[in-house]
Order: sequence, then C-alpha cells, then structure tokens
Amino acid sequence: MISGEVKGQFEMIVGGKNVLTNKATGPGLIVRPGSTEEVAQCLSILHSRSLPVVTLGGLTGLVRGTDVSPDFIGLSTERLNKIENLDPIRKQVLVGAGVKLQEVHSYVAERGLRYGVDFGARGSCTIGGNVATNAGGNSVVRFGMTRANVAGLEVVLADGSVISDLGGLVKNNVGYDLKELFIGSEGTLGIVTRALLKLVRATAGTASLLMALNSVEDALMVMDMLQAKCGGSLLALEIMWNRYFRAAGSAVMNSSPPPLSDTYPVYLLAQVEESEEGTPAEEILVNALVGAECIADSALAQTTEQEKVLWAIRDGSEFVERSHPSVLSFDVGMWPQHYSSYVAEVERALKRRIPDAAPYYFGHLADGNVHFMIGHDRTVPNATAMIEECVYGPLSHYWPSSISAEHGIGQEKAHHLWRSRSTSEIAVMNKIRKALDPTGVLNRHIQYHSLAVYART
Ligand code: LAC
Ligand code: ZN
Repeated sequence: MISGEVKGQFEMIVGGKNVLTNKATGPGLIVRPGSTEEVAQCLSILHSRSLPVVTLGGLTGLVRGTDVSPDFIGLSTERLNKIENLDPIRKQVLVGAGVKLQEVHSYVAERGLRYGVDFGARGSCTIGGNVATNAGGNSVVRFGMTRANVAGLEVVLADGSVISDLGGLVKNNVGYDLKELFIGSEGTLGIVTRALLKLVRATAGTASLLMALNSVEDALMVMDMLQAKCGGSLLALEIMWNRYFRAAGSAVMNSSPPPLSDTYPVYLLAQVEESEEGTPAEEILVNALVGAECIADSALAQTTEQEKVLWAIRDGSEFVERSHPSVLSFDVGMWPQHYSSYVAEVERALKRRIPDAAPYYFGHLADGNVHFMIGHDRTVPNATAMIEECVYGPLSHYWPSSISAEHGIGQEKAHHLWRSRSTSEIAVMNKIRKALDPTGVLNRHIQYHSLAVYART
C-alpha cells in the first residue's frame, strides 16, 4: 500500500485537493499535477522510490492499459487542460495533454481551421492519450494517424527530466527526431505534457454516401474508384459487415427503417469534402462513382442531420458492446485485399469452436484496419483464449499483419506481441525502455516478452 509519507510528498507538490485516495479498482492514489514542473517533481519522487505509475487520460483505451493494482499511483493529466497558443501562419496549436480531442476541434474550428484526427471517443479522449497511443480513427485515409499530425512534443521522462521540442520547425534533421519515440509508446517511455498539433483549412461542405455491396471484392473496387477520382477530397471510407450494420443501424434508427435494406453482405460509408477549387462535395462523390455497377444500392445524405445518422451507425460500436454479456474486441491490420478470405477463415474457426459466438466486423478499409467485436454469453469455458485463437490463428496466414493496427498493446495484447513483432524488435523495445526508465516505474504492469519467454514457461 502507498504510505502516508509518500502521499504527503505528493500533497506538497500538487496541493492536498489534487491527491485522491482511490477506493474503486485501479491505482491506490491519484495525483493531479497542474503543470509540467509538477509532473516532473512527481516523477522524481516515483523514480527515486521506484514506485510504479500509470498515466491517466480520458480512459477510453480498449486494451486495458490503465488496469493496475492499488500499489500503483495514477498520474492524471486532467489539469493539464489549457489550449495555449494557435499560430495561424504556421497552422499549429499548442495544447496541454489533458485537453479533450473535441475541445481542440471546437477551438480551431472557431478560428477557421481543423485538426485532422477524429474518431468516436472525441468527447472523452485526451490529446495526451491520442499521442501516447498514436490514435487513428475515421480520417486516417486523408490525414494519417496522430503521428502525422504532431509537430512537436513536451515529455517528462521517468527520472523527472523534461525534453521539449515545441518550436514547430517543419525541417530539423539535427540527429534523432526524439518526439517520434514517444508517439505510440503508450506511456512506457515518458509522460506527454504538451503537444503542438498541425492544423489544416477548416472543413468545407461534406457529402456522405452509404453503399450496399455484395462482397468485399466489390467494396475494394469502389475504394479504388473513390481514391483515384476524389484525391484529397476523400475524408473517410469505412466498411461495415452485415451483422454490425444491422446491430448499430437498428440501435441508431430506433424503430424507423434503416437507410438501406439490411440484407446485404457489406456496406461502405464514404465521406467527401468540397475541393480547394470549390467543386461541391456531392458532385465529386457522385462523379467518382459513375459506372460503378457493383453498388447494389445507395443512400446519399440529403441533410446534415441525415449525414449525422449515417455516421452514428458507423460509430455505434457501443451498442454491440451492450448487447452481449461479454464482448472481445480486436483491431487487426493487413492489406485490404486479404480481408475477404481472412474474415471467412475466422468465421469458419468460430463456427467450429464457439458456434454461439456473434462476430461483428467493421472499420477502416482503406487503412487495411478492421475491428472485430465478438460477443458471447460467457457459458463456454475458456472462451477468451478460444476466440483469440480463432482470430489470431488465421492472422498468421497473412503477411504483413498486425494484432493491433491502431489501439495499441496495453495489458490485453502484451502477451500477443510476438505475433506481430520479431524477437529482435522486442529486444530493441526493451533496451530503449530500460535506457529511458532504468528503475521501471512507467507502466510496470505491462511487460514486452518475445515468444521465447512463453516457450520456456
Ligand atoms: C473505431 C474504434 C473502435 O474505429 O477504433 O470505431
Ligand atoms: Zn478504429
């Protein structure tokens, strides 16, 4: 348990009301620093006493990254919540790690600009967490992942030292680009305190089209046409397999009929925006698909409200989460053209081993990233291990493939790391970790092992 003396030390740094004893599950103590200096002082104490710490952002992660025991201290970024400076010439904004993604969107939109990263958890997730996990989302096809949208970072290292690269130079090849190391490191190498984000011109008018298709192959054909003809106007291209569309569609629509018949094998949802030259979004979208005979049916949103409904269906994974006693989620990556046969392999494996499992597939076709949510009723013994085997077993038949395309490793996927990283890559990851955090205070609950370790045990 965390001693009163340690608690007192944190109270001296951040003030009594910002040190909370946590009676719920998770870290025993939650500390809420209000500045980079306070984060640095907290980490110095943790480092010198070798006490384990986990960083807490919006808690929207999907891989149990913050699931720790009461001997951990939780360092919350919620008071690092200031938007400090927007430079309209460089088109960059400096924000604290605890600022929510949606707050960035609103702030920059009021100033005629836009931050390209966007996804369903925008109202709760924080920029610090987005950076730490290299978050993706629905607009990666246009703007890339968080990594591509970060111009600078300030990070506190495990021993309390601070490295800061917030100048926002586009070009700076003086040795290593250290900020890249922390993006996607999931809190294992340091704590992000501020980020300088790249902005682009504000969204012009958008158009969204929902399409019903008879196969993934047809979806790939439509993807090819949209990518070839919409260029930089294509904002998102998302795929939903039938069961996902039916579940999220009926939840979003309540008792009204879905925007398209729910009997097709797959659906694509595309969003396009007006071009820089001013060609309307709808015109770009419709022209791009002239001659696409494989589209079995389609619905073009006629109003902003209708557009929101289509996207609520796409972002409706929480309805799936609520409709089964237990739901396992996966976040696989592979070349888009491999999904048709991979999904069929997973289906076959599930039917054989857990016939009652309900698999839902949806996600980011153009990024080669599909989410699987597999519901089951908890009656099958060892269901988790069996379902993991049904998903990961066939994954090994496809190269390249990833067990976590955009959600990270956390605790849930750490013991599967070897499926997507070589023994030498894992060794380098551990060397970097040891160099930056020699006493192992950051995320001690997450260890990266290669397959050799499991083979020995
Ligand atoms: C999504 C989240 C689950 O794409 O990554 O909806
Ligand atoms: Zn996603």
